[in-house]
Amino acid sequence: MAFSVVFSDGANSREWAHMHPSAIRRRKHSQEDEYDDQVHVAEIQAEGDFHELANVFLPISISIASFELACTAMAAPPTTYLLRRDRVEAIRLGSQHLAWQRHLNHLLDPNIPIKDGMEIADIGAGTGIWAIEVANQLPSSQVTAFDVADTHFPSPEYWPSNAKFDLLDLLRDVSSELLGKFDVVHLRMWAFVVRNDDPNPLIQHAAKLLRPGGYIQWEDARFENSVVKGEPAVQFRQMMRQMSNAARLNFLWLEELDQRVKCADAQLEVVDFQKQPWLSTHIPLVMDTFLVALENSGAILGKLKLVDPSVPNSEEWMEALETLHKDSCKPSGSQLYWLPVTLLARRSG
Ligand SMILES: C[S@@+](CC[C@H](N)C(=O)[O-])C[C@H]1O[C@@H](n2cnc3c(N)ncnc32)[C@H](O)[C@@H]1O
Repeated sequence: MAFSVVFSDGANSREWAHMHPSAIRRRKHSQEDEYDDQVHVAEIQAEGDFHELANVFLPISISIASFELACTAMAAPPTTYLLRRDRVEAIRLGSQHLAWQRHLNHLLDPNIPIKDGMEIADIGAGTGIWAIEVANQLPSSQVTAFDVADTHFPSPEYWPSNAKFDLLDLLRDVSSELLGKFDVVHLRMWAFVVRNDDPNPLIQHAAKLLRPGGYIQWEDARFENSVVKGEPAVQFRQMMRQMSNAARLNFLWLEELDQRVKCADAQLEVVDFQKQPWLSTHIPLVMDTFLVALENSGAILGKLKLVDPSVPNSEEWMEALETLHKDSCKPSGSQLYWLPVTLLARRSG
């Protein structure tokens, strides 16, 4: 089975062919300056499970902006992040943040005690919009925004003086210097990252970052129970199911996030768990940001089609989205949007 991956920084590009996932994983133990040697080592015939290969290549092919980032992506296990990290996505995250703020009316959950010098981590921070706003609101706190990719990180001159950004893959075990460091760990919109209905590693790694008595604050999307109204929405929902099945995304865990957190063997007690629906006045913004995300994720369909040929191609996807969008603009038109879920948990001790 022949596979090729092209890494490019705009000026240079290099094609790697016939790579086996084990060769890629070996790469993570090597030094940056051994990169070329590793390419050579990696040029072995690919055999084995097609799903495994596809899963390795998915995150790599969409998260590369430079050779540097390629190294980061390769060091990570497959995360199947389905969204292209481009300018439109950065703006979409800003709009989605606005929707969450309108819904919650708080950045930090009011049940979390505020103290001077508290350490706050935002994990999978994207543009860091939540982290930056928390840092501004709580100037005596120290806020760190982590993400597996730095594509969306603002340049350091825009960071508040009490905030910083850093790379971290939370699906892998956390390094010892971060253990027990934080009073609050914030997670938002991980639904499209967790695969195989298994949030356990994520929950456990997040809990390890907490001091005893520290809090996990989590906001996410109940994609399994999305609102689907009108034929164009029903049709599109069917396409989404084909896509998420191919990506091994299953959103049932979000319906029972409280139970999953309790049973994760992570010393967490659930303080609050809510499935409050959106106010109707917020729905247009939520739906718009969702449709933009769906537009964005169309870019990955070609890769998913290799895993499962029944996945729609990007033309079919965009056409169906356009039909849905047009219908949604009519009075009492179609609706397709996800519902929110929020959780607050405290680490015992
Ligand atoms: C939908 S975005 C949400 C961004 C931000 N939390 C927000 O609400 O604006 C999901 C983020 O998770 C990041 N991510 C995906 N896999 C990750 C991993 N294994 N470790 C850390 N971050 C990850 C993505 O790069 C992306 O920025």
